[in-house]
Amino acid sequence: MNILIIGSGGREHAIAWKCAQDDFVKRIYVCPGNAGTYLEDKVSNIVIDTKKFNLIEDFCVKEQIGLVIIGPEQPLVDGLTDYLQNKGIKTFGPSKSAAQLEGSKTFSKDFFVKYDIPTAEYKSFEDFNSSVNYLDEVSYPTVVKADGLAAGKGVIICENKESAIKALNSIFNDKAFGKAGSRVVIEEFLEGEEASFIAVVSKDKIIPLVTSQDHKAVGDGDVGLNTGGMGAYSPAPIVTEEMQKKILEKVMYPTMNGLINEGFPYLGFLYAGLMIKDGDLKVLEFNCRFGDPETQPILIRLKSSLVELCLAAIDDKLNSYSINWSEKHSCGVVIASKGYPESYDIDKEVKIKLNEENDLKLFHAGTRYEDDKIITSGGRVFCATALGNDLKEAQEKAYNLVNSVDFEGSFFRKDIGFKGIK
Ligand code: AMP
Ligand code: GLY
Repeated sequence: MNILIIGSGGREHAIAWKCAQDDFVKRIYVCPGNAGTYLEDKVSNIVIDTKKFNLIEDFCVKEQIGLVIIGPEQPLVDGLTDYLQNKGIKTFGPSKSAAQLEGSKTFSKDFFVKYDIPTAEYKSFEDFNSSVNYLDEVSYPTVVKADGLAAGKGVIICENKESAIKALNSIFNDKAFGKAGSRVVIEEFLEGEEASFIAVVSKDKIIPLVTSQDHKAVGDGDVGLNTGGMGAYSPAPIVTEEMQKKILEKVMYPTMNGLINEGFPYLGFLYAGLMIKDGDLKVLEFNCRFGDPETQPILIRLKSSLVELCLAAIDDKLNSYSINWSEKHSCGVVIASKGYPESYDIDKEVKIKLNEENDLKLFHAGTRYEDDKIITSGGRVFCATALGNDLKEAQEKAYNLVNSVDFEGSFFRKDIGFKGIK
């Protein structure tokens, strides 16, 4: 079987690497991929404009693609799954309607209220003046969110009314997030510890993946600007067995059933970003895809076939599917380029001195292969991922792997996994 993976990040490298482990998989194409996918056995990169659905379809027909896995949110929100499924091409990912859970904060917040899913208090606005008037009714800090997709940058935590006005002004008047900022959600600031809960959902069935925790802030100790994620580990002790039950009962099943009720059942990875405090939880957001970097430490623990899992979900056969995990712990440390998450350096040559050991994998993200060299091309450049008998060992191995990579201006957080070890 041949497979097409859409995307270019560390998540897509990890998905391609995992799919390549199945003997029945002949060739994997990643569109557009990175240097890591380029160098992987059985994997090729291919460049097609993912806005041109018919070109993706033509490629799938020509290369006899038996499974398409869509990594990032944009093509999902654009409706690529609907288009390919309609052409009879097996595609793993939610429909355009279901992807609104991530594509519109107003949609997801209204959905949470309708289906009684715990979340922060909020109000949604379509113009600057009414949003500013509301600022007298909230307590501080408060959270201002652009409604649409903003590459992880659309959430602004405001310490006082003045900074909230500034945030609203930049979204509504300066159009900092373009169309994604034509609506705004203002919501209550939640305290606690965050965790990512990711499951495979197919209509009325859910297979939860192992638990994980991301590190959103750029600096050690969770300080500084928010990023796409600076590292993740699995399992996350904050998500106890009891907490998992609560998440399934209060969040995942009501979401799955709510989407069926709305007329657009879910297919794909469903990612709940949660805030946990005193044994209780609230949903911060939903993503309609696998997390990046959570995918890397989660997939390094997956023993069974990811391809079979995706196909079982598409064919509505999840009931007869059982998923196997390594009991080991995993840790993934993102290596980023100077300046990230603001404007960052690119085009730096990377030197790698790899000790090919078991239980280690250097996933590429913002890299490209050119003249036999690995060159940086993004803000998050690698995710050094390792398995260990406990989190401490996984962490140590991941940081050893980090030290085998060198490029000008590289940096990483020194404390990935610290909450899990504490
Ligand atoms: P989101 O894109 O909604 O996940 O938000 C990105 C990040 O902003 C989250 O991972 C949290 O760290 C933070 N955040 C979002 N909403 C809230 C909230 N209501 N209270 C506190 N932090 C939040
Ligand atoms: N790691 C957070 C995300 O994928 O959105």
